[in-house]
Amino acid sequence: MKILTLYYSYGGNTKRIAGRIQKAVGGDIACIETVTPYEGDYNSVVDQGQREVNRGFCPRIKLLAVNVQDYDVIVLGTPVWWYTFAPAVHTFLTQQDLSGKTVYPFATNGGWIGHTFADIEKSCKGAGVKEGMNIRFDEDVLRTSEAEIDAWIQKIAK
Ligand SMILES: Cc1cc2nc3c(=O)[nH]c(=O)nc-3n(C[C@H](O)[C@H](O)[C@H](O)COP(=O)(O)O)c2cc1C
Repeated sequence: MKILTLYYSYGGNTKRIAGRIQKAVGGDIACIETVTPYEGDYNSVVDQGQREVNRGFCPRIKLLAVNVQDYDVIVLGTPVWWYTFAPAVHTFLTQQDLSGKTVYPFATNGGWIGHTFADIEKSCKGAGVKEGMNIRFDEDVLRTSEAEIDAWIQKIAK
């Protein structure tokens, strides 16, 4: 079983959780990055994100540091952007065929997760998508208990 923890993070919250997961489950870790960075203050990125989500925009992403096809299990992390996964994750899911793999999604958010996990499941055709982990932050303060997160991590690849 080869495990990859793969995440997109704009502000660092999702990256922090991804690091915790990889430390616990082993395997490799890689991040999804947009070719063009999001610039400007937080509110302008929130507005840009809304426009992108609304039109289903897929920003160009950098070549990943790993070959996703080498892995059996993908732990996929995204921040919630306007009730779904971030556009960079949309690009990734459009580009990769995850059929035959097991996907464990997690999503960091400010309390409004929306339809993020249902959207991930729809976008991972042919994959076995496990129950997602909803991780709440207030800005950069973790609000979901670490015990709850660790209990979910324990289930990965068991
Ligand atoms: C463009 C944008 C849209 C967001 N939309 C939501 C949302 O719909 N629901 C929510 O609970 N939080 C929303 N947030 C807050 C982020 O999901 C939350 O801060 C997340 O932990 C950020 O992860 P990151 O630091 O890895 O980027 C949004 C943030 C941004 C920048």
